[in-house]
Amino acid sequence: MKIVPIDLGERSYDIEIDQNALSRIGAAVESLGSVSRVALITDDNVEPLYAEVASQAIVERGLDLDAIVVPSGEQTKSLDYAEALWEQFLEIKIDRRSVAVALGGGVVGDLAGFVSATYARGIRYFQVPTTLLAQVDSSVGGKTAINLPSAKNMVGAFHQPSGVLIDPTVLNTLSDDQYRAGLGEVVKYGASLDENFFAYLEQNTEKVNARDPIALETVISRCCELKAEIVKKDERETSGLRALLNYGHTFGHALESRIGHGKLLHGFGVALGCSLAARLAFCLAQKGDDRFSDINESWIARQDKLFESLGLPTRLRDLPAVVGVEVDCSPEKLVELMSTDKKTEFGQLNFVLPRKIGDSFLVRNVSVSDVLDALHLQ
Ligand SMILES: NC(=O)c1ccc[n+]([C@@H]2O[C@H](COP(=O)([O-])OP(=O)(O)OC[C@H]3O[C@@H](n4cnc5c(N)ncnc54)[C@H](O)[C@@H]3O)[C@@H](O)[C@H]2O)c1
Ligand SMILES: [Zn+2]
Repeated sequence: MKIVPIDLGERSYDIEIDQNALSRIGAAVESLGSVSRVALITDDNVEPLYAEVASQAIVERGLDLDAIVVPSGEQTKSLDYAEALWEQFLEIKIDRRSVAVALGGGVVGDLAGFVSATYARGIRYFQVPTTLLAQVDSSVGGKTAINLPSAKNMVGAFHQPSGVLIDPTVLNTLSDDQYRAGLGEVVKYGASLDENFFAYLEQNTEKVNARDPIALETVISRCCELKAEIVKKDERETSGLRALLNYGHTFGHALESRIGHGKLLHGFGVALGCSLAARLAFCLAQKGDDRFSDINESWIARQDKLFESLGLPTRLRDLPAVVGVEVDCSPEKLVELMSTDKKTEFGQLNFVLPRKIGDSFLVRNVSVSDVLDALHLQ
């Protein structure tokens, strides 16, 4: 078992990574004290796999439980489903002493977290993430949200959970694509924040590909630690430090919107985005920008090799094979998408770029011609 403490003053809690995490949910909820009821929220893929073990662990402790199952998929992160959950909470008599448990991927975590943040002005909740992406990213940091029809994650709240319980063995039932998408974020952490972790991944690709639970405990806990260190310093995303978690994301988001959200999984976009960001840093180095003097071709090849050994794409030309259709990702089109992205500040192109493996920083206002040069390098 590994424990990652999240140190946020009175909102502090632990992330536990353990192969028996699901059967520990009841004890974790009980340990909060004076719990009136528990609402277990999950989706229709996860419910038949893990709801019984989780429910059993809760009722064994003499806690009153209701399970609520929502449809799987991004469209469930909506106002309609938030309202349906608020109504169901009222029906099953959830009150301020009740606890919600979000059992599922990032969709369930974000939705159940948002409903917990807002129902009765906020109730306690646990995250029990069941996708790799949720285990290393969305369950950490207290961001909860639903989507508006035209803008993802536009309505939400910061609401830290009372705890996060992660069982790496639940990843055995995850589809190959969803698992690899999570690995896109995993490599991002190493490449942008921690060289030793990057080297660990290089040395353990076989175990990681085989979903070895011991290797995964190490991988997941290190990612949670790296995200936690940043969240601790910028809990509410005010100082800009949290932006450091976005290596690969400026290019990645443009690719996702070009190809269609859901068609290109986020983690695949991140892998391609990191590869493009490395090339952008290389282009700037070639033009004499000495902030990037350590970035050379062998450095780029090292990063590409790790992504590729984990089954992730690094070249735009790989995209048709990844998404199953021809796509027009011309450099000009991608730059246009980046410039009009709703999150773009003042039309500026901002990127997290590498100084070397495990060390990156936010570069504001990169010129369009430099970005085009990097895209043409692909
Ligand atoms: N709050 C944050 O800080 C944050 C950070 C990153 C992403 N997110 C959000 O996370 C969401 C994406 O999360 P996701 O990638 O986990 O997607 P997801 O929740 O849609 O899960 C992916 C699929 O896997 C299924 N699934 C989940 N666990 C499974 C298991 N163990 N075995 C078999 N199938 C399983 C789900 O039913 C779903 O079909 C997005 O909405 C994104 O905005 C939030
Ligand atoms: Zn991401």
